[in-house]
Amino acid sequence: MALTVSPLENVGVEVSGFDINEPLTDEIKAELVSLWDEHGILLFRDQQIDPGSQIEFSRVFGELEMHPLKATTSDEYPELFMLINDPEKEKYMTATYKGQEMVSRLDWHMDLHYTGKPNRGAILRSVVVAKEDGLTGFGDLHKAYEALDEETKALLEKIEVVYSFSMQRKHMRYVDLEGYEPGLYSPRKPSDMQFPNFPDVAYPAVVTHPVTGKKVLEIAEQMLERIVAPHKAGLSNDEAVDLLERLVEHTRKPEFHYFHQWRDGDMILWDNWRAMHCATGTRPGTERVIHRTTITGNETLGRVVEP
Ligand SMILES: [Fe+2]
Repeated sequence: MALTVSPLENVGVEVSGFDINEPLTDEIKAELVSLWDEHGILLFRDQQIDPGSQIEFSRVFGELEMHPLKATTSDEYPELFMLINDPEKEKYMTATYKGQEMVSRLDWHMDLHYTGKPNRGAILRSVVVAKEDGLTGFGDLHKAYEALDEETKALLEKIEVVYSFSMQRKHMRYVDLEGYEPGLYSPRKPSDMQFPNFPDVAYPAVVTHPVTGKKVLEIAEQMLERIVAPHKAGLSNDEAVDLLERLVEHTRKPEFHYFHQWRDGDMILWDNWRAMHCATGTRPGTERVIHRTTITGNETLGRVVEP
């Protein structure tokens, strides 16, 4: 093995021993892909990364796509999304959490999960690091699955879970709403953010990863709504809610998490079919720029639920 691999706290690994600006050999590319499959979350530090090298590097892991969110794209590099804290726009992303106003705080989720066809993965690179806060959390739902007891694993084989798209955080059933107040400008319906009205989507509670074959607990608290026909799995509606509450608590255990405090030159790749992520957000007025590239999800993992 040519690359150096060291574990991060709890989940994921840091990978070094290559230069992103040199052409990567097929051997190194294969090693990077196999580390991604094995660990799900890869951190790279101290690379001299420009947009071109980030895009080129991202292609090692699959075809790139345009993220449908209204983000700023670059004319020169259409595969690159620039997430910029802009004083004009940040008011729409501001809300109050336990008395503190925060911008772009995000609950645990997988990207495009609500469409049934999540992205395969993504790479974030910190270009301007927030002076405080602004952590990105990653949660390994394969490890979360492995840690379940056998009885729960068997029960989950019989269950599908529904995700229901909503713009208003207070409508989400399994996020922590204690001390939460939406902002004055928080979007209230999908069209406020140029989103369509997404139908509900159901996933098996345990998804077998299409590439690695690893089992993934398909529970992330953002937009999690209900269990499909719980009685078919021998559960009352009350037991179904209790089960989802218990599973969400399980995914919140720090042993499945890595929270990244950004430094200059850091870049993180994650497997969006396996790992959930979240953002702790920044205080209003914080300068921050992230460059993102997204790897297309070419498999449909969920199904649209007809009413
Ligand atoms: Fe995300």
